Amino acid sequence: MALSKGNGGPASGNDARSGQRLLSPEEFRQAAYAHADWIADFFEHVREFPVLPSVQPGEFAAGIPAAAPERGQELAEILADFRSHVFPGLTLWNHPRFFAWFANSSTPPSILAEFLVAAMNANVMLWKSSPAATELEQITLDWIREWLGLPAPRFGIIYDTASTAILQAIGAAREHADPDCRRKGMRPGLTLYLSEQSHFSAEKAAITLGFGQENVRKIEVDDSFRMRANLLEAAIEADLALGKRPCCIVASIGSTSTSAIDPLPAIADIAERYGIWLHVDAAYAGAAGIVPEMRYVLNGAERAQSFVLNPHKWLYVSLDCSVLYTTRPDILRCASSLAAEVIRTPEDEQVVNFNEYGVQLGRRFRALKLWYVLRYYGREGIVAMLRESLRLARLFRDLVASDAAFELCAPVPFSLVCFRLRRNNAHNRDLLAAVNKTGRAFLSHTVLNGQYVLRLAIGNFQTNEQDIRETWELIQAEASRLSVPESAAAERG
Ligand SMILES: Cc1ncc(COP(=O)(O)O)c(C=O)c1O
Repeated sequence: MALSKGNGGPASGNDARSGQRLLSPEEFRQAAYAHADWIADFFEHVREFPVLPSVQPGEFAAGIPAAAPERGQELAEILADFRSHVFPGLTLWNHPRFFAWFANSSTPPSILAEFLVAAMNANVMLWKSSPAATELEQITLDWIREWLGLPAPRFGIIYDTASTAILQAIGAAREHADPDCRRKGMRPGLTLYLSEQSHFSAEKAAITLGFGQENVRKIEVDDSFRMRANLLEAAIEADLALGKRPCCIVASIGSTSTSAIDPLPAIADIAERYGIWLHVDAAYAGAAGIVPEMRYVLNGAERAQSFVLNPHKWLYVSLDCSVLYTTRPDILRCASSLAAEVIRTPEDEQVVNFNEYGVQLGRRFRALKLWYVLRYYGREGIVAMLRESLRLARLFRDLVASDAAFELCAPVPFSLVCFRLRRNNAHNRDLLAAVNKTGRAFLSHTVLNGQYVLRLAIGNFQTNEQDIRETWELIQAEASRLSVPESAAAERG
């Protein structure tokens, strides 16, 4: 372990008269260099650190002072405490052997942009409050739209997360189905359709927006975990017969457990036939559509009224950054806007004021990190990184397939591999715990058809073939070390 012991910069002085704590430009410069040194060293030595810390709940908190400081402290001291106390207690999401959930990357250009964002502290609530930031959001989202091959015009907006984006999208769908709801509140009987494999953020949105869980239909999936379009149509027909009002269908490109792709063209046909709002959740896998040979995965997405993609998942941008595109910004705006006098400006008629398209008034300047990342790597560079993740996932899939002790549990359309030992659930749970405990890799799990399944997701920009091969060897070694007889493990479930 050779991380810089950068001292956090020189001690800073107090203003004798006012008692205020000041940091001169030179002091700031030195402190910033020290932090940058530490980050550069982190990237250089990242593989020397455990992906998952071995800490118990409460252990970190017990190791730092419980009381807030009365007197200001030196940045050098704070950085030193970050290094020695906070860092060892972090799960390293930016580690090349972080394979859990959906692995992602905070790349250097994104980190540098975040530094500027904090310095500018721009609030992108109105065009007037941040003209360049507002227009940069429009420009960068149009670049991504074009790279994805989604037809113009399409309004784009950045939210913090896909969970917020889907809340806004379903809010727009509700407005579409029930135009009076803004004034009178929602009428009962609006229904929402997802698959059993949809991310739970859609159901959460339904709860928040007042649909009620009883009005959420979870459509069965096929053997490849894709929504069955015929059962979707049957559910809509059954609801109509009961006098319900089908409001929104959520289809996934890259569902959470297995990265399945719902049959979008067939689902779009149904949505159009019944006049139902179609939302596409491509939070993780949408970025793959930038790769020419993968563009087919977005077929049908152009027919959706709303579409979400998370650059903070697989587009090399730091958390958080989620992009929503809609063909109906008029409805999204109607569902969310309230023009209070204090935020009126003379330019209102000529510009986009992004706060009108969401629940938030204050908004971070997230477009800058997108602009940095898209410009630094270019389309070619992004495609090369995405292709590498796809290649490594296929490599890992083939390694699993070549070992008779293991089995693949779902197709591998993107960079996620679902697999298991051909043993019972307890063995697989033990295997995951044993692998993660080493700190040399971090995987997560899901349950498919009652079976405990390991998930290895690739998305970090530094992950290489050696990481994949060594992680596979680690998994094999831990699997053979698990010598618990099947009968003993079965007792534990
Ligand atoms: C398919 C899918 N949709 C939505 C989400 C929610 O994303 P966020 O964490 O940005 O709210 C996830 C999270 O993993 C996901 O996998």
